[in-house]
Amino acid sequence: MSAIMKRHATAEILPAEPAPPAPALHKPEQQVMGRERNIGEVVLDLQNISLSFGGVKALTDISFNVKEHEIRAIIGPNGAGKSSMINVINGVYHPQKGSIVFHGVPRHSMHPSKVARQGIARTFQNIALFKGMTVLDNIMTGRNTKMHSGLLANAVWWGRARNEEMQHRRKVEEVIDFLEIQHIRKTPVGRLPYGLQKRVELARALAAEPSMLLLDEPMAGMNVEEKQDMCRFILDVNYQFGSTIVLIEHDMGVVMDISDRVVVLDYGKKIGDGTPEEVMNNPEVIKAYLGSSH
Ligand SMILES: Nc1ncnc2c1ncn2[C@@H]1O[C@H](COP(=O)(O)OP(=O)(O)O)[C@@H](O)[C@H]1O
Ligand SMILES: [Mg+2]
Repeated sequence: MSAIMKRHATAEILPAEPAPPAPALHKPEQQVMGRERNIGEVVLDLQNISLSFGGVKALTDISFNVKEHEIRAIIGPNGAGKSSMINVINGVYHPQKGSIVFHGVPRHSMHPSKVARQGIARTFQNIALFKGMTVLDNIMTGRNTKMHSGLLANAVWWGRARNEEMQHRRKVEEVIDFLEIQHIRKTPVGRLPYGLQKRVELARALAAEPSMLLLDEPMAGMNVEEKQDMCRFILDVNYQFGSTIVLIEHDMGVVMDISDRVVVLDYGKKIGDGTPEEVMNNPEVIKAYLGSSH
């Protein structure tokens, strides 16, 4: 076990009470029977991204890419700029410098709703759901970008609007089955335990049928069992839907197990990029995690 994993194992993975060893997660290649993972060409290319808020430099000259169908992790200490990076990708923040090319098309200052229509969906570090609404209705909001019939269509082309509504419901039910949350579909989200709320948020993102999913700490605050479930769902989404996944995660065990490549940020700068093994053995990365005394 590397020094980084040891530290994270102590701080974040292991529960306070000794527990029986959890079954190991499996590397993607081993988990899917008879199905090759086909990592493709670069679909998202970020070059020299710099973003600051007043005097605070959140991101400085960061370049990296994401390939089709891969699971790409972004890691780094708190305040490193990970969430800012996701916000740049989905158009919430507009970097002062740098270029973003998605599927070969450069973009500048694109509104998040347009980014969503391009097929990029996300979840948030702090769950962003309507707590008073049911699971079903929350997931339905994920279909917004796909809805064509507005009020007028509802009034004039009743049949068409009705058909569309049924299609959306069907898709939402598919996602509910896939994430095994049938039993809570009518429950208001605010009444659910935290781990399930995180799963509902993933469901909302999946309802948009995204080609790329941005997940900001999908396992934060979860216990070991909930983390394992979430890992399994993320891997299943990746295999079965072929979605490309950009994942911010603190748990090094998870990162090692499920990601294809990892980019490491520290104080807004990129200090590592490569396979999980490569970044874990990168002295600069070890230093950032353990401090200069190690
Ligand atoms: N909207 C904002 N306004 C001002 N500063 C921000 C904003 N968003 C992020 N920052 C700052 O940018 C830096 C990186 O934050 P963030 O991207 O949230 O880091 P991480 O997700 O890695 O913990 C921090 O110093 C944070 O305070
Ligand atoms: Mg963050």
